[in-house]
Amino acid sequence: MNKIAIIGCGNMGLIYANSFLRYKITTKENLLLVEKNEERQNVLSSLNIGKVVTVNNALIKECNIVILAVKPQDFKTLAKELKKVTHENSVILSIMAGTEISFIQSELDHKFIVRAMPNLPVEISMGMTAFTPSAELTHDQIRLVENLLSTTGRTLYLKEEQQLNAVTALSGSGPAYFFYFMKSLIEAGIHLGLDEHVASILTKQTMLGSFHLINNGQKTPDEYIASVTSKGGTTEAALKIFEERNLSNVIIEAISNAEKRAKELAIK
Ligand SMILES: NC(=O)c1ccc[n+]([C@@H]2O[C@H](COP(=O)([O-])OP(=O)(O)OC[C@H]3O[C@@H](n4cnc5c(N)ncnc54)[C@H](OP(=O)(O)O)[C@@H]3O)[C@@H](O)[C@H]2O)c1
Repeated sequence: MNKIAIIGCGNMGLIYANSFLRYKITTKENLLLVEKNEERQNVLSSLNIGKVVTVNNALIKECNIVILAVKPQDFKTLAKELKKVTHENSVILSIMAGTEISFIQSELDHKFIVRAMPNLPVEISMGMTAFTPSAELTHDQIRLVENLLSTTGRTLYLKEEQQLNAVTALSGSGPAYFFYFMKSLIEAGIHLGLDEHVASILTKQTMLGSFHLINNGQKTPDEYIASVTSKGGTTEAALKIFEERNLSNVIIEAISNAEKRAKELAIK
């Protein structure tokens, strides 16, 4: 059975704890919830899903997997303690945004690191997580990490760590883009005289149906756009405004700006 330590059991750490238990990757007897915030420790203890400890706990040495789920700015301080209690063969999986593998390796003096970038729908096991292992990891270790991450949704192996900046800009921040677009559609519906709950149902179900169509159907996005757009019709009238205002370029520019910011924020 996997022995797992989750370091930092805030929003993300708790999601991983629940996901591992739900898919029986480990048991609560083999799960260490390593948390420094006292209030949070009390919440975690009341959940009774693992042993709640602090980072100086020797049990961490028995874990084959250690997950780093603290904020990036807290890592350097944490590393000083953690390096004393980490087994040399354990795999360290970091979900800290922008924190490079070489930096984690040098701060922890540890070889086996995987860096992953999840997104918010991991909360309901519908996440998208891209990950890159350090060169030292064996195939078995990579598979183990993939199995862990798969409990929160889909996973994607990336060979080039640098591509995680683009991943951050696309799927990491991505949920916010879809929420923004949905919010605008709902506002448009209200502007046209619909009740908010009506506009909301129409928007959500249209998004869900469109997703399943493009995910399960045979056509490209352009072909599906053409299927909805008849000459001189309503869709064409809306798309004309998108084209005139160059919405596609705005989106490309916005996501490029997110990638640029990811590079600026990188901790090397
Ligand atoms: N939220 C997302 O959608 C998302 C997506 C991708 C990646 N991430 C990454 O996930 C990580 C966690 O994010 P989050 O939103 O879950 O943060 P969070 O809710 O702030 O959780 C982090 C927890 O770690 C605790 N902590 C800090 N230092 C510690 C230490 N030395 N030992 C034990 N516990 C410690 C914090 O305590 P205090 O509150 O007392 O500091 C806090 O309870 C971040 O690195 C973030 O970049 C998040």
